[in-house]
Amino acid sequence: MTVIRHRAELLSVPQDPATAGPSAILHHPDGLLAIEDGHVLAFGAWDDLAARFAEAEIVDHKGKLIVPGFVDAHVHFPQTDRIAAHGEQLLEWLERHIFPAEAAFAEKAHCDEVAAFFLDELLRNGTTTALVFGTVHAASVDALFEAALARDMRLIAGKVLMDLGPEDLRDSVAEGRADTEDLIARWHGKGRLGYAVTPRFALTSSDAQLADAGALLAEHPGVLLHTHLSENLGEIAAVAERFTDESDYLAVYERFGLVGPRSVFAHGVHLDDDALVRMGQAGAGIAFCPTSNLFLGSGLFDLARADAHHVRTGIGTDVGAGTSFSILSTLGEAYKVCRMRGRALDPFRALYLATAGGAAMLGLGERIGGLQPGQEADFVVLDSAATPLLARRTAGQSLHDRLFALQMLGDDRVVAHSYVAGRCVHSR
Ligand code: GUN
Ligand code: ZN
Repeated sequence: MTVIRHRAELLSVPQDPATAGPSAILHHPDGLLAIEDGHVLAFGAWDDLAARFAEAEIVDHKGKLIVPGFVDAHVHFPQTDRIAAHGEQLLEWLERHIFPAEAAFAEKAHCDEVAAFFLDELLRNGTTTALVFGTVHAASVDALFEAALARDMRLIAGKVLMDLGPEDLRDSVAEGRADTEDLIARWHGKGRLGYAVTPRFALTSSDAQLADAGALLAEHPGVLLHTHLSENLGEIAAVAERFTDESDYLAVYERFGLVGPRSVFAHGVHLDDDALVRMGQAGAGIAFCPTSNLFLGSGLFDLARADAHHVRTGIGTDVGAGTSFSILSTLGEAYKVCRMRGRALDPFRALYLATAGGAAMLGLGERIGGLQPGQEADFVVLDSAATPLLARRTAGQSLHDRLFALQMLGDDRVVAHSYVAGRCVHSR
């Protein structure tokens, strides 16, 4: 197999610097990333490694920074065309903007068209892996997986279970199970794809469907559970009104066997300490979605409190409630939300959450997120001089300050190239 040497500044944060300390930050100002057969062969200083691969082709990204591909831990591909829909908070926004848009995914041709645009948009933004909501239609997930397979992307998705949804966007317990089992059988583990059992949230599934989601999760050991939790005060009040026997929102999911180490919950904005302790003990994860939480006025996620209770965290754009496909922009908003909560989010920690941290939460930490030898070669080449302002602000600055500027000021414009399994799939 052919070896390719990429020469650039290299940065990878495979461990959480909040717990592992500065040794978690792997940095080579003049680095060599050697790729063979879609995997990382070597990651280190150019001077140390160049001779070992003297015969190999060189791709010189002079002046640019290579980091692992970004992991979007929560996003809705069928909401691509409803990003930036003006007006309401969560429940009204779903009724007015989202459910009508999702109803259009009954047409496979529409699913195909949006799936292709969506994945190309992820790659343009440097996102090489995502945990994705489809719609209630199994064909939406077929379309997304077909498009991801064609791009060789590592992607996890699921058909939405919602037997209490609006009339034109509703399945039954039996249909939800049959579609889910069929999709798992046809797609889970094919290429780089994985499946997530995806009840929309507590309010759109009957008790019987939530119980069946728990059974599906138990019957399929490799799949994830992906849903929403404690996002918005109106939503939380409606959950409390329906589930009078449960002590809180998380307890609803606990009752149905949905809270464990394979569970990823979007938001968790309003969880109290008791719920966070239970999540930490269960090994469940939260996708922190700052642009969505600000856009819908949902609230300010408390990352420090989630950390204190050892709850795993990743970063989600949550498009279409989220307002950007860019994980860099999303990290800029995450910084501001943490600031409002009285903390600063360190840029290296932020990069960890958006790469190896998200990968670990998705059960993919062995494969992606870190660029150590043996990992799959998903990486992005960032240009910190992509705009006049960024060039001016980052010139001659420390890595810490350049990385922070990329997060506060950067977006798709700084993504010079995206590589998936060693292959360049986007160039600006
Ligand atoms: N809760 C239930 N469905 C949704 C959705 O589509 N987006 C968001 N942000 N929250 C939800
Ligand atoms: Zn969402």
